[in-house]
Amino acid sequence: MSNTHILISDKDCVRTIRINRADKKNALSQNMYKLFTAALKGAEENDDIRVVIILGVPGAFSAGNDMADFMRASDPASIAPVILDFLHTLAGFKKPIVAAVDGLAIGIGTTMLMHCDYVLASPKSYFRTPFVDLGLVPEAGSSLLGPKISGYAKAFELLALGQAWSAEDAQKAGLINHIYDSESLESQAETAAKTLSAKPPQALMSAKALLKQNADDVHKRIDEEAELFWKALQSEEAQAAIQAFMTKSKGD
Ligand code: COA
Repeated sequence: MSNTHILISDKDCVRTIRINRADKKNALSQNMYKLFTAALKGAEENDDIRVVIILGVPGAFSAGNDMADFMRASDPASIAPVILDFLHTLAGFKKPIVAAVDGLAIGIGTTMLMHCDYVLASPKSYFRTPFVDLGLVPEAGSSLLGPKISGYAKAFELLALGQAWSAEDAQKAGLINHIYDSESLESQAETAAKTLSAKPPQALMSAKALLKQNADDVHKRIDEEAELFWKALQSEEAQAAIQAFMTKSKGD
């Protein structure tokens, strides 16, 4: 699979990672997770990079895990390590991450934002985690971070009820910082990254580490969720829900 699905560019101490698979609404395949993880690890190791920006394409930040990968894997648990490597890298990332969402952010498209530090979204964005509807459970540490960020009641709406949140809802729930129109969204993200990259880098990383608190708990929760997630993925109800989506997509 082409590495054009994850685009990386470095400029002025900022690494920009763009999820770029518009024809599949930026669903994240195994290969994309690998490239994404490598881009993050590379940014972490490179002293010239001080901030990371994560972008999608117009209309789609990410539709979440690639469901076709779920269907293709003879043993669903075989695809877990690649996703877990991504999640632990993201959760443990020491430098600030700015994310800009324009359009849909579904599943991990929403939960990855809980690990970012400064999230912007356009008014046409929406955020949804249909895990339970798919016979699955919340992932990416969201069962711990969601209530912490939004309070239990709001987190339940998002993560268990599967309600779709508008950009305004997400802002009220503390998931995103600001709303900007689609046209200025990316330049606003660049401005924020520039401001962050001009700050003393060690102090900034220390501030992030202090604010994030209990990082070990987050890593532990990611693993606990994953165990339930991969078990659930093999259940009849999950397989039926995913099959129904794939069949509908093919227009059968
Ligand atoms: N995995 C794999 N493929 C996906 C995908 C996903 N998560 N989300 C979208 N796609 C694909 C569709 O299969 C379709 O492919 P096709 O053109 O080859 O048939 C293409 O992206 C466009 O999607 P489509 O459903 O036609 O667009 P839409 O605008 O009507 O709906 C979504 C967009 C994102 C709302 C819808 O595709 C959707 O619900 N996707 C599943 C999201 C999800 O549940 N993710 C969580 C996984 S844990």
